[in-house]
Amino acid sequence: MYVCVCRAVTERQIFQAARAGAKNLKDLKRELGVAAECGRCASCAKDCLREAHQEAATVAKIIPLHAPGLGYA
Ligand code: FES
Repeated sequence: MYVCVCRAVTERQIFQAARAGAKNLKDLKRELGVAAECGRCASCAKDCLREAHQEAATVAKIIPLHAPGLGYA
């Protein structure tokens, strides 16, 4: 699903950016151009990022980082 129509950024790309270290909308703007034009996507992009971080936190609880080769990066 497209989150940012102006820059053709998908939810999947935002999840990937979160896994790569994007922490906030500013990071998404710098990395993907999200909210760099009309700005209508800002709220949805933040929601996606929050969801990605929650998912990462859940996975980290299930698969502890100290388990060799199984940690969430
Ligand atoms: S929809 Fe993202 S900047 Fe316009």
